[in-house]
Amino acid sequence: MKILVDNTPIECQEGELLIDVLINNGVEIPHFCYQQDLGMDGNCRMCMVEIKGQKRPQIACDTFVCENLEVSTKSEKINEVKRSILELELLNHPVDCPICDQAGECKLQDYYMDYGLYESHLCTPKTKKGKHIDLGSNVMLDQERCVLCMRCVRFTSNITKTGELGVIGRGDKAKIAVAPNHPLNNSYAMNVVELCPVGALTSKDFRFQQRVWFLDSAKSICHGCSRGCNIFIDYNETKYTDEKVYRFRARRNKEINLSFLCDFGRLSYKELNEKFTSSTWHVETFKEYLKIEKKVALASPSLSLQQLQAIKEFCEKNSIALYSLPYVDESFGDDWLKINDRSANFAGVKELLISTCQNDFENSLKDANLIINFDHNLLKSHMPENKQLLHFSTSKCDYGTVYAIANFAHENGTLINCDGIRQEYYATKYRCETPRLVELLEELK
Ligand code: SF4
Ligand code: SF4
Ligand code: FES
Repeated sequence: MKILVDNTPIECQEGELLIDVLINNGVEIPHFCYQQDLGMDGNCRMCMVEIKGQKRPQIACDTFVCENLEVSTKSEKINEVKRSILELELLNHPVDCPICDQAGECKLQDYYMDYGLYESHLCTPKTKKGKHIDLGSNVMLDQERCVLCMRCVRFTSNITKTGELGVIGRGDKAKIAVAPNHPLNNSYAMNVVELCPVGALTSKDFRFQQRVWFLDSAKSICHGCSRGCNIFIDYNETKYTDEKVYRFRARRNKEINLSFLCDFGRLSYKELNEKFTSSTWHVETFKEYLKIEKKVALASPSLSLQQLQAIKEFCEKNSIALYSLPYVDESFGDDWLKINDRSANFAGVKELLISTCQNDFENSLKDANLIINFDHNLLKSHMPENKQLLHFSTSKCDYGTVYAIANFAHENGTLINCDGIRQEYYATKYRCETPRLVELLEELK
């Protein structure tokens, strides 16, 4: 069916929430408390729209679409309502945007610039609340910046069901808090930082590290386990330091991770910045190694389908027995996103019919004179006796000859997750001085 939004027809399904229809069709609809994966709460009133036939403005997050609905999101009256709400939100706000980490991606700041633009009427001192409170799990709270949208509270009560956060006090004394001696403590806690639409919740890990307007983003996939949560890699090349990844943010995918990540995956960006020493790549030297009789190769199950395919072709051509073994960690998984299979692409290994038999691999290893490791963690800190060991590696290896290869931040690729969902990821645009594995193997042809 169709509805009319600011005189433009929009197609939608009966029973959809009006705010979802507006967001999904790129219509600007200011909102604090509504979040597509937390649902509606109706407390902030920022999403007011005019609906033909209704006397008063209505909130879009509690309105279901129906045939012939006519909506106005931009009238004078609506803008005046938004301005009044913003004035209330900012009444006791410290307006410390220049030192706030959310500046540049803050809804309150954006909406003020779009709809507010008023002088404060307040002539009494602002109400003071707590600053830089450590809530636990890397999350810092500034109570004065909070707009009490309750997203963080709803996340801990409805999603993780750990219930650490709540509101205490009333009126202008109301504030977000944890109970004494009960810190924020769950393995998904840092999602509240991303959910907070303002600078009230910030990440200890990211705060004061980088202004967000200096960051570029690439659409990628977390490699922390086989769930394959969708992420943005936020990175920057500054004038004075090497290019660097600063954070992972959740990228919404309704079928996989909604708008969330686990804290382990979120912080795993640090591995992408690790530097280590490696040998200089010479095709001819490598070809000499290939003359050695009895060779075996082990490939990481977190490499992309494209990389695994190139490795498979290389091994077939050079009579190298190829294996891939899964990364299993029985203590990692839970009943939500985290999975014990810590490989990003074990389903891809199986699709390419690469042997995953541990016994066969161990037997081949005994006989082999040369072992080629394609970024598998097993061989990075374990040296089989009396063998030559060559690594194509994205991280430090304790033994053998190491050829550094680009990590997934520099690669485009395809992964298949634990539910068989095939997903693409894309490289960041920053300078990559480390060679890409597929290109190295190409040179050996
Ligand atoms: S801390 Fe942030 S997410 Fe929580 S209620 Fe305040 S503004 Fe909303
Ligand atoms: S659940 Fe797995 S894929 Fe998702 S963020 Fe955590 S480690 Fe990464
Ligand atoms: S987003 Fe609708 S009331 Fe808050």
